[in-house]
Amino acid sequence: MILSAGILDGKKLAAKKLSVFKKKVDVFRKKNSFSPSLSIVQVGKNPASEIYVSKKISVAKEVGINSERVRLPANVSCSIFLEKLSHLAHDDTVDGIILQLPVPKQLQFPNLMELIPPEKDVDGFHPLNQGKNLFGKTGFSPCTPRGVMEILKETRIKIKGKNAVVVGTSNIVGKPLALMLLNAGATVSMCNINTRDISQFTRDADILCVAVGKPGLITGEMVKSGSVVIDIGITRVGKKIFGDVVFDEVKEKVSFLTPVPGGVGPMTVACLMENVLCAAQKKVKK
Ligand code: GUN
Repeated sequence: MILSAGILDGKKLAAKKLSVFKKKVDVFRKKNSFSPSLSIVQVGKNPASEIYVSKKISVAKEVGINSERVRLPANVSCSIFLEKLSHLAHDDTVDGIILQLPVPKQLQFPNLMELIPPEKDVDGFHPLNQGKNLFGKTGFSPCTPRGVMEILKETRIKIKGKNAVVVGTSNIVGKPLALMLLNAGATVSMCNINTRDISQFTRDADILCVAVGKPGLITGEMVKSGSVVIDIGITRVGKKIFGDVVFDEVKEKVSFLTPVPGGVGPMTVACLMENVLCAAQKKVKK
């Protein structure tokens, strides 16, 4: 059961998706005599990145995708960093590349998302891939928003005609998610740091998606009864991980809620794996 009392088990849903997906990877490998490959560039030792990257590597192994963690020191120079990315971009044995975020200050160039070629951009962060999302086309779309859309689809939550509210407007989650909801027929509002009273919006939301990274942001009185709440925030406090939603309050009021951890996160990784296979498939078709 992926749903119990309106609480989604994202791990089970991702495991179901990955077991089907693994068979596709097997077919690909048999047909092409190589495994799809993913390179993950990690700069420095951000504690959250350590965990996320290890998870991506272990899931890749489970499904038959080759992966490597390319570690660079936190004080790496721009030229060495650019050289490494360029090397991976030109290496024909590498199908997908991701640059784990955040990166240190010296690397925060305005065109950071353009350094990975669009055909290897399995995170879907390159402006070209983000642009395809604008037109509702399926290129490589960002994995977290896609994971959210798949959760809504899998649990048969109707989107068309609903009021959807996205709190948080990052380029990699909030904005692409708002577009996907819009393309699926929702009326979408977006709240940002300057929104005067976000509860004016959240109380009216049939589907509320929160991706801010501020534990306790969404309380029970801020949500609509019977609504759907997707918690995408992840904040580590000591050894515990919290979402943006006050889980115990909100779960009493809504019809559907994703927990943190174990909600959207596992679906993000599953969508990433799909993108890597897709990159390898496109390469052999060239
Ligand atoms: N940092 C936090 N989430 C992500 C993600 O989905 N992709 C990358 N590259 N970095 C991240």
